[in-house]
Amino acid sequence: MQIGILGSGNIGGNAARAFARAGHHVRIANSRGPASLQGLAAEIGSNAEASTAQDVVDASDLILIAIPWTRREEALGELEGWDDKIVVDAMNAYTEDFEIEDLGSKTSTEFTRALVPGAHIVKAFNTMFYKRLANEGKPKGAKDRLAIPVASDDPAAKRVVMDLIDEIGFDPVDNGALVEGGRKQQPGSPIYNQPISAKEMRDQLTRV
Ligand SMILES: NC(=O)c1ccc[n+]([C@@H]2O[C@H](COP(=O)([O-])OP(=O)(O)OC[C@H]3O[C@@H](n4cnc5c(N)ncnc54)[C@H](OP(=O)(O)O)[C@@H]3O)[C@@H](O)[C@H]2O)c1
Repeated sequence: MQIGILGSGNIGGNAARAFARAGHHVRIANSRGPASLQGLAAEIGSNAEASTAQDVVDASDLILIAIPWTRREEALGELEGWDDKIVVDAMNAYTEDFEIEDLGSKTSTEFTRALVPGAHIVKAFNTMFYKRLANEGKPKGAKDRLAIPVASDDPAAKRVVMDLIDEIGFDPVDNGALVEGGRKQQPGSPIYNQPISAKEMRDQLTRV
């Protein structure tokens, strides 16, 4: 699959490494431009490319958004061509001071959705600490795999993202629809930043 990643930091950089290891082609963009990403792309290997943000959108089947929440409008607002792309929102609504932003009755992905018109949006990769994403993937069938929840209104997009999570060494957990599921994945929820198995995660999700 052609995977694009907006944001090349803790989450974006480590997701890029994991997706490339699983055999996907990754294009990575940040705020400073492709020249600043040549080193990372070279380190990842021949199936990684430093890119502009618009090229990421244009050339990818699936785009992971891994930028700070406070930068989302400047990062996404000018981009075009989201129609029918799978967009995976890994952002959490923290302010510049790392306080949880009060979004009223809305979830963060409802704001993201408005910035990627026509995309099939999925909430995933927002609950796992980047060091676990980088280091704790385990082969399929391993007993102590960690779980990653996935919420979306689009069953086909959700399936693609769940398969991708499985390929990189984690157990995907279907967490229902975008808003209801996304709410259960927010900072402070019982499954947020918890190194737990799929069974433990499903148990927790039935209680919230
Ligand atoms: N850290 C975690 O463990 C973790 C876990 C789950 C979810 N998340 C979420 O993932 C997101 C990224 O977190 P992080 O820790 O990976 O942050 P980070 O290490 O600070 O990386 C942020 C990345 O976003 C890029 N960026 C900033 N503004 C941009 C713009 N306007 N256009 C394009 N790229 C832009 C930065 O590029 P430049 O360096 O060029 O500015 C950088 O590559 C956040 O929303 C966070 O809540 C983080």
